[in-house]
Amino acid sequence: MSTEKKPKVLVARKTFPDIVERLRPHFEVETNDSEDGWPQAELIRRLQGKAGVYIAGGEKIDQILLDACPALKVISTMAVGYNNIDVPACTARGVLVTNAPDVLTETTADFGFALMMAAARRIAESEHFLRRGEWKQWSVTMFAGSDVHGATLGILGMGRIGQAIAKRGALGFGMQVIYHNRSRLPAEQEAPLNARWVEKEELLRQADHLVLVLPYSPAVHHIIGARELALMKPTATLTNIARGGIVDDAALAQALAAGTIAAAGLDVYEGEPALNPALLTVPNIVLTPHIASASIPTRRAMSGLAVDNLIAALTGGKPPTPLNP
Ligand code: DGY
Repeated sequence: MSTEKKPKVLVARKTFPDIVERLRPHFEVETNDSEDGWPQAELIRRLQGKAGVYIAGGEKIDQILLDACPALKVISTMAVGYNNIDVPACTARGVLVTNAPDVLTETTADFGFALMMAAARRIAESEHFLRRGEWKQWSVTMFAGSDVHGATLGILGMGRIGQAIAKRGALGFGMQVIYHNRSRLPAEQEAPLNARWVEKEELLRQADHLVLVLPYSPAVHHIIGARELALMKPTATLTNIARGGIVDDAALAQALAAGTIAAAGLDVYEGEPALNPALLTVPNIVLTPHIASASIPTRRAMSGLAVDNLIAALTGGKPPTPLNP
């Protein structure tokens, strides 16, 4: 039996126990058995002496934490988004960062499409009306919304998830797809998606349903604010499954109240889990708590990939999805 000590790792957020078990042959594992993340000071305390950490997306990995945890060599997030991690600071300290792309693409696209459809067809608004006992009779224009089939789908951010949404729109719903992204897709990728690159302003003016799927960075903070919303059609919907902070939520609430756009679907919020209270006062909005990737198979796949990354990175293997190789 080897007398060599196993490296220590921290699983900073409760996840599937059988997936955590896969870490135990390789590491001394400490787990958070609660669904809640730890306060930052507690996270730093528990990271002392740990070579690796599995995080769930909400944990903040910044210079202060890195300086306070010199043993830390690998940060493995089960999310695809990593705006909570200061990757350059990790790279400067030789700390490897891995994320979990691809495994959540289709599930997240399903949800984005569902949220867009719910906004267009006023599903949440009409359900609330029913629950309040206000339905007295059928009427011609009651909760009449806008069509999704045949409409123009606008996508801001045409990465993997954006393309998966475009595929649903073009192939399933006969939509014309327009998109804006830093780089244009090659023509052979655009053609089957019925997709056309346009300037951001044209995207805003032309889209019947605009879906945001771009990664967050300070450069795109409030990229959708009052000015941009005013360019959109009054019949248009806006769906955000990307990150809070991309949309100015206060401006969005005002635009929805004023009828500048017809409806919105939000899964992410600036400062979440807190919500701008104005969002709760407008009826024409569907609100969900950051669950776009939350199907059981996908959350298992995300957790599994994060564990695979941690094992490979700390046992001399090649992590499947490194961010700063
Ligand atoms: C992701 O994977 O980035 C999702 O938003 C969950 O955080």
